[in-house]
Amino acid sequence: MVSSWLLSTAAKRLEGKVAIITGGVGGIGSRIAQLFCEHGAKVLIADTRDDESQSICNSLFVHCDVTSESDVQNAVNKAVSTHGRLDIMVNNAGILGAKESGILESDTADFINVFRVNVMGAFLGTKHAARVMKPAQRGSIINMASIAGVIAGSPHAYTCSKHAIVGLTKNTALDLGRYGIRVNCVSPYAVPTQMARTYFGLAEDDKFDVYSSLKGVDLMAEDVAEAVLYLAGDESKYVSGHNLVVDGAITVSNSAALNVFTQ
Ligand SMILES: NC(=O)c1ccc[n+]([C@@H]2O[C@H](COP(=O)([O-])OP(=O)(O)OC[C@H]3O[C@@H](n4cnc5c(N)ncnc54)[C@H](O)[C@@H]3O)[C@@H](O)[C@H]2O)c1
Repeated sequence: MVSSWLLSTAAKRLEGKVAIITGGVGGIGSRIAQLFCEHGAKVLIADTRDDESQSICNSLFVHCDVTSESDVQNAVNKAVSTHGRLDIMVNNAGILGAKESGILESDTADFINVFRVNVMGAFLGTKHAARVMKPAQRGSIINMASIAGVIAGSPHAYTCSKHAIVGLTKNTALDLGRYGIRVNCVSPYAVPTQMARTYFGLAEDDKFDVYSSLKGVDLMAEDVAEAVLYLAGDESKYVSGHNLVVDGAITVSNSAALNVFTQ
């Protein structure tokens, strides 16, 4: 009885920690929120989708458009005023932007909008999280990048924005390391969320069938959440400036070249 209690306590890797997850109503963000709650964290979800916010574990919800500095500032302040601290900031909110057939047809307004949400959103989240983490001399900031931050092949705005997230992660890891704050990012391959289904033109019950180098397993939102959990918790206490790619080896392959491993 005592040992099972110890085990369940030890297994809670975020006990006592306070986390904000932007875009936490959506597919990957809501799985991160659930997993964080299961691991004992107090979670605050910051999203624009107010109507769907109530169903995710026992988390608090704050309306927050990550492109608005006052909204992001308010979300961080709410975490501190409610729970007295902020340990983990997950800058997960993101958009894919419009489909495009090439840069000649690219919509400039769409390019700017994707950058505002994906890059400026993570910049503001990092800035305001660091503001309250610096006095505490600790904290873990995790940005949601993508394999589009590693290789080409997505819409221009999305690819550029995710490369920028990797750059922001490295630069702020160097900057904020002075205050004991770690900054990392996670780069998933395609995950069957609303974002990806819309992009591939798939209905909710359509099979999500993407090419993979890794057979027998499908990448799901919970797999991404596990990677974020690792970077959020003390198990990764010396990991900073890292891009944790969760892609079943897609980005290390060259799909245009002859694959010799076909047998
Ligand atoms: N699904 C994939 O295949 C995939 C792969 C790699 C990376 N990602 C990244 O993971 C993150 C989450 O994607 P998802 O698939 O869960 O998408 P999703 O569309 O299911 O969820 C995105 C969430 O972000 C919120 N959001 C959008 N704009 C916002 C804003 N301005 N302010 C606050 N919240 C906002 C939405 O309301 C939604 O809840 C994104 O950054 C995305 O680029 C997704």
